[in-house]
Parts: sequence; C-alpha cells; structure tokens
Amino acid sequence: RRQKDGQLIALHEKAAELYHHILLRTQVGQHALKYLQDRGISEEQMTEFQIGFAPAERTLLKQVFQQENVDTQVISRSGLVTEREDGEQLDRFYSRIMFPIRNAQGKVVAFSGRLFLEDNYESARMPKYLNSPETEIFNKRQVLYNFDQARAVGRKENELVLFEGFMDVISASGAGIKNGVASMGTSLTNEQLTMFQRTVKKVLICYDGDNAGREASYRALQSFTDHSSLDVSILMLPENLDPDDYIQTYGGERFKEQVKNHRESPFTFKMLYFKQDKNLENEHERLAYLDQMIKELASVPSVIEREVYTHQLSEMFDISEEAIQAEVDKVLTTER
Ligand code: CTP
Ligand code: MN
Ligand code: MN
Ligand code: MN
Ligand code: MN
Repeated sequence: RRQKDGQLIALHEKAAELYHHILLRTQVGQHALKYLQDRGISEEQMTEFQIGFAPAERTLLKQVFQQENVDTQVISRSGLVTEREDGEQLDRFYSRIMFPIRNAQGKVVAFSGRLFLEDNYESARMPKYLNSPETEIFNKRQVLYNFDQARAVGRKENELVLFEGFMDVISASGAGIKNGVASMGTSLTNEQLTMFQRTVKKVLICYDGDNAGREASYRALQSFTDHSSLDVSILMLPENLDPDDYIQTYGGERFKEQVKNHRESPFTFKMLYFKQDKNLENEHERLAYLDQMIKELASVPSVIEREVYTHQLSEMFDISEEAIQAEVDKVLTTER
C-alpha cells in the first residue's frame, strides 16, 4: 500500500516539477506567466506554491512517463491521464495553470488547473477549475490546500484562516498571512474540521464578499460551532470582493489590518447575516428579527459577551437592555 502510494506520489511530484518548469522557464509558458504577473503574483509566490502550466498538447506527461517506462496501469491509476475510446492515454490537464495540491505531509497528491486559453472562444464549455479525480492518494474531503505549510505558523499564532479559494491563500501569503488554508471547492467536511481542531484553538473564516460567500460563511460557522470547540471569527469583505481581489485593490497592508481589527464575532456576524433579507422598517419583520436575535443571544455562553451584545441590540432597536435581558432569561428558563 505504502509503496503503491509512493509510486503515484512520485508521478505527481514529477508532473508538478514539469509544469512549474514550463511556466517559469519556457516560451510555451510565457502567456500564462504574464497573466499571473498581471494578477500580482510574484515569482517567489509561484515557487512557494509550485505553480505551473500544462500546455495545450495533451502528450507531455504521457511522453515523459513512457520514456521512464512507467507502467500504463500505474499512469492510469494516477488520474493524471484520461483514456480515449481507442485506449490511447492523453494528459488530463491541458491549457491550464496548474496548482499542486499537497497532503498534510507535503506530498503532491493531486492538482487543480485553472483554465487558461490564448483565445477564449472555448471557455464557455470548460469549467474554470478542473480538479484531479479521487484516487488512492487523493480524497478531497481530507485535504486542505496549504495545510502542510500553514500548520507550523498556525500553531505559533494558534489560528488558521479559512479561505474559499486557493488563489486567496496564495494572495494572502504574499501579503504575509502564512496560516491560510482552503477546502477544494466543497463545503467544510468533518475530516477538515478535525484537522483544524488538532492544530489550533482559533479559526478565522475569510470567504468571498458576495452572497455565496456569506452563505458559505454561515454554514462553516455552524459546522465549527456544532462540531468543534474552536473559537471562530468571521471577516466580511465588501463590494463583492474576494480576499485576492481585496488585496489587488487595496493592498496587502490594508488586508492585514482588516484581518486584525475588523473581524466579527459569531453573534455580530449573525446579526448582520439575518438582517440581509429583512425589511426592518416593517414592524412584523422587525419583531421577528429581534426574536431571532434573542434566541441567538441566549445561546452565547459567556455572560460578558452577552452583555456586550445586549447593549448592541438595545442601541439598534432602541429597546432597554432590561427588556432584552428579560426575554433572554425567558428563553433560558424554557430551555432548562
Ligand atoms: N471552484 C471549482 N470549480 C469552479 C469554480 C470554483 O472547483 N468552476 C473551487 C476552486 O477550488 C476555487 C474555489 O472553488 O478555488 C473558489 O472559487 P472562486 O471564488 O470562483 O475562485 P477564485 O479563487 O476567486 O478564482 P479566480 O480569482 O482565479 O477567478
Ligand atoms: Mn466565490
Ligand atoms: Mn473567489
Ligand atoms: Mn478570485
Ligand atoms: Mn450598556
């Protein structure tokens, strides 16, 4: 089993080196390189994350592996090729910017490729990101992008930052935030929760500043509070920007300042989140919202935090803190 895994990992390590070389050192990689540079990614970041390019011809890995007499069965099990109807193997990834995905031990076990075409006419039919299929060495539920590098820094700061996309992880790293990880385009799994819980006490959710990102933040927050004892905070980015966009627009320093000083507590996040789809001018909706927030308030374990939020609600609704406190007490008594 170990040895078999080792074979598949060796193919991935080889592929990552080839793609990386093509991006940085060959004519074929020039356009993709320019694209990444225009996105503000430095050569240092490209090296740190071993970013690469898979050219349009689908014969690169196939030829290299054949030259090295790798068994076709093994190549096939790696997921790095797909088989044509006539049995011919072709590289799975082509015309894509390649991001190696490493397991917790830092070994390349998969790739994600971002579509990059010289002329964009085909793009509508192809997904923006293509991930490796599940293989003997890759189960996307068990992987957090950059966990192998983020873990040590995370331990030191006792916090990991959870991003939506690996481009955000890479961008944040350029801004000096080295404890970022991302799931592979799925919602947070129990396996990933366990990885957080074993490493740190705190987590910052930093998803995209759009509707999908806010929905996903809410779900991630619920998972963390239901299944872990992690101390969660949430960063809400403005104007539909994702962390990478934010850094491009306002710079890394300002992003770091956001991370440091503008994170919301779970309660404040929910206060803003539940408000989104409500018209608080309408008395009925206003009372329903207040009711919802009082239930949330009752579930805050810390008495001190509860007092702070009681104050917030009191100001927001122009209702006395005593009245809010009385309602919270009612919820707490009926629960007992
Ligand atoms: N994703 C995916 N397939 C897609 C779109 C997204 O698997 N068609 C996953 C990827 O893992 C990606 C994450 O969802 O990292 C976040 O998606 P998105 O916000 O669209 O990606 P960005 O990181 O913003 O990519 P870019 O800035 O390059 O457009
Ligand atoms: Mn998104
Ligand atoms: Mn995004
Ligand atoms: Mn983006
Ligand atoms: Mn007060």
